[in-house]
Amino acid sequence: MASSASRYLFLFLIGLVIGIVATVVSMRAIDARTDHFPASVMDVMAWHMGQLKKNTEQNRCAATDTLPHLQALRAMANDIEPAFPDLHDDQRFGQHASNLRGSLDAALASPPLNCRGVGTTLGKIDDSCQACHREFRD
Ligand code: HEC
Repeated sequence: MASSASRYLFLFLIGLVIGIVATVVSMRAIDARTDHFPASVMDVMAWHMGQLKKNTEQNRCAATDTLPHLQALRAMANDIEPAFPDLHDDQRFGQHASNLRGSLDAALASPPLNCRGVGTTLGKIDDSCQACHREFRD
């Protein structure tokens, strides 16, 4: 009796280990096939927005603090359509991306020169981010 109980326990543990290994292997396979580019473009833009916000909290709002982030955001905004091949031809998606580039062009054309201005600019850029997210981010 004792020996059959321990045999079942042994089989159970083997099954458990095989199950865990199979789960890890398939999760890694799924991850390897996922395209990380779209989320990366978004994460980089979010990072620059975060840096600008941090600048306003630390009262570092000279043009030299602000411009590099606005320029990086503007450059990343060019990659939005290529990063989302499924939405590339969606007119509304393209319109949102182009509105964001418009807000960034406006900000670059007359850069904010104090933290109040940076705050206002951030708000306008964020409106463009959110407009697309409301429609396309699930
Ligand atoms: C033209 C549409 C569009 C614009 C403009 C846009 N986004 Fe996104 N964003 C998306 C979509 C679609 C997703 C969902 C992507 C996914 O999960 O693969 C997303 C997801 C994200 C995510 C989550 C990424 C992740 O790790 O899953 C962040 C952060 C983000 N956006 C930040 C921003 C910021 C900041 C801006 C503005 C500077 C912005 N987005 C502008 C469409 C847009």
